[in-house]
Amino acid sequence: MKKDRNKPVAASHIGKRLRLLCVLPVVLLFFSLGYVLSMISNTSFSNFYFTFVPSLPSVEPSPPPPTPLSGAAMHNMTDEELFRWASTAPKLHGTPYYRVPKVAFLFLVRGDLPLRPLWEKFFEGHDGLYSIYVHANPSYTGSAPRDSVFYGRMIPSQRTTWGGVSLVEAERRLLANALLDLGNERFALLSESCIPLYNFSTVYATLTASRTSFVESLALPARYDPLFAARNNVTLAQWRKGSQWFEMDRALAAEVAADVAYFPTFRELCATQRFCVMDEHYVPTLASVRRWGGRNANRTLTFADWKPKRRTGSHPRTHGAEEVTEEFVRAVRAGAGTTNNCSDYDDGAAGVCFLFARKFGRDTLQPLLRLAPKVMGFG
Ligand SMILES: *[C@@H]1O[C@H](CO)[C@@H](O)[C@H](O)[C@H]1NC(C)=O
Ligand SMILES: *[C@@H]1O[C@H](CO)[C@@H](O)[C@H](O)[C@H]1NC(C)=O
Ligand SMILES: *[C@@H]1O[C@H](CO)[C@@H](O)[C@H](O)[C@H]1NC(C)=O
Ligand SMILES: *[C@@H]1O[C@H](CO)[C@@H](O)[C@H](O)[C@H]1NC(C)=O
Ligand SMILES: *[C@@H]1O[C@H](CO)[C@@H](O)[C@H](O)[C@H]1NC(C)=O
Repeated sequence: MKKDRNKPVAASHIGKRLRLLCVLPVVLLFFSLGYVLSMISNTSFSNFYFTFVPSLPSVEPSPPPPTPLSGAAMHNMTDEELFRWASTAPKLHGTPYYRVPKVAFLFLVRGDLPLRPLWEKFFEGHDGLYSIYVHANPSYTGSAPRDSVFYGRMIPSQRTTWGGVSLVEAERRLLANALLDLGNERFALLSESCIPLYNFSTVYATLTASRTSFVESLALPARYDPLFAARNNVTLAQWRKGSQWFEMDRALAAEVAADVAYFPTFRELCATQRFCVMDEHYVPTLASVRRWGGRNANRTLTFADWKPKRRTGSHPRTHGAEEVTEEFVRAVRAGAGTTNNCSDYDDGAAGVCFLFARKFGRDTLQPLLRLAPKVMGFG
């Protein structure tokens, strides 16, 4: 009898311990979830959370001002606060709270997005798989219509000038904003003159399945300055050039947003030059010195036509309406503009030469909208 009574008692002791062991991770999860959500969620949640849990273990840096980051992209954080938060955001793939990775589309634009209707069709029906951020000239006062996926997606912006380091700052600002959403795992930089060459499913699948970032990386000595050796020990052998238009994973995005070692040297150098064109050197060189090698495909997925007779000075060709044909899109996809056979790439996107293309003028909107359903598979 005694033995029989002891058994359940012992069992209930063990049961209590087990329950305690089970509860502990849940409590920890609650705390960390609260911390994470307070970083990214809206005002009411942050307030709610911090009211009810006043004695949270202090986290450095202190919580951001309560900003509605999940509703609108606009907030009141200064660049300093923004980069501080971005540099504490988890860097890894598959953060436990977000099982479905998102692609962040970072639009670096002057003002209007003339090709917005094309992008609207591209994004249609894919809610939850992407996020959009727009960095426009601060003097731009326009706005996308309320029912647009671009509505409320402008981030606090600063003026940029062509060839200036302010362009790099804008790229880093876009990345930092997008990093605050832990669901974002791939980051594509685009301009107002970019178009998608495939439908969303294909772009999404290619980017999320790839194990590399796509930052063009060419070992060219142009614009290397001894200042980089003096300040950062960057050798000429490590110096890289590449297209500004990148597609990168979360780890590299976090590296770029958190960089406090190299960027100041780029800024310092550019302060003395009108066109330092560091937008074509900063990210490729950073990836090089940070030994990103095997995790970078060293190529861009954004097509541009640089053929000598077709470009205009330091800019690639701007395609007009008459050039937008099925043959053109198919040729670019098949690798026009690259000397490589795109099937040979060993970067997780073999067979894909380009996902995006630039530059397309305003007048290409209607032809592109007509072409999209048949050639690109959307709209
Ligand atoms: C930013 O601050 C201003 C003034 O304090 C306020 O009116 C505005 O609503 C704030 N914006 C956001 C997005 O929090
Ligand atoms: C997207 O395009 C691919 C071919 O690139 C096609 O197989 C697929 O059906 C398209 N998806 C949709 C939703 O139309
Ligand atoms: C600078 O770089 C060279 C070559 O990569 C390396 O041998 C040297 O140790 C580095 N020096 C410092 C101070 O990091
Ligand atoms: C990219 O280039 C680096 C050298 O800069 C190389 O080590 C790496 O293997 C290249 N990546 C791929 C995917 O080929
Ligand atoms: C590219 O490579 C694939 C397979 O490796 C081959 O089938 C195709 O013919 C090649 N294309 C060109 C243009 O060389």
